[in-house]
Amino acid sequence: MNRISRRELLKSIGTCSGALAVGVVLSACGGSEAPASNQQSASPATEVRLEIGSKGDELYYDKDLLEVPANSKVTLTFKNNAQPNSGMLHNWVLVRPGTADAVANDGITAGEANGYLKPNDERVIAHTKMIGGGESDTITFDAPPPGTYDYLCTFPGHGVLMRGKFVVK
Ligand code: CO
Repeated sequence: MNRISRRELLKSIGTCSGALAVGVVLSACGGSEAPASNQQSASPATEVRLEIGSKGDELYYDKDLLEVPANSKVTLTFKNNAQPNSGMLHNWVLVRPGTADAVANDGITAGEANGYLKPNDERVIAHTKMIGGGESDTITFDAPPPGTYDYLCTFPGHGVLMRGKFVVK
């Protein structure tokens, strides 16, 4: 597996922070054009920050429900809270309704080289990298249409317990 060094991880976090800072500046500029107090449906996407982790060394996420408003631009940070070098790998994969089991099974077939995800899987809406204990990964994606979606870890055998609901309201 193409394991990520801590330095590269920190570098990528730094890049994400920079992008976020730019996003804050941009939204601040946008906010100056129109009062934010009276939001219309035509207003720019709401920026939402989410954080989720594994529950320590257990095969559970520390949240089994995430909710965002419709039209959100979501920045999600996933942290693997297992012990470093424990060999406990996790990811966070958001999938279309009713496809979690199939995505997990195809992930096993895709294997370690693909991070246990079928490449370009159209059932996958967004996903982090497969990361080790103590590592984190931040991703940004547009919320799918309103509805209830599933998220899971696609490491072989984890998806039965590491699973939750992602609600777009
Ligand atoms: Co896992």
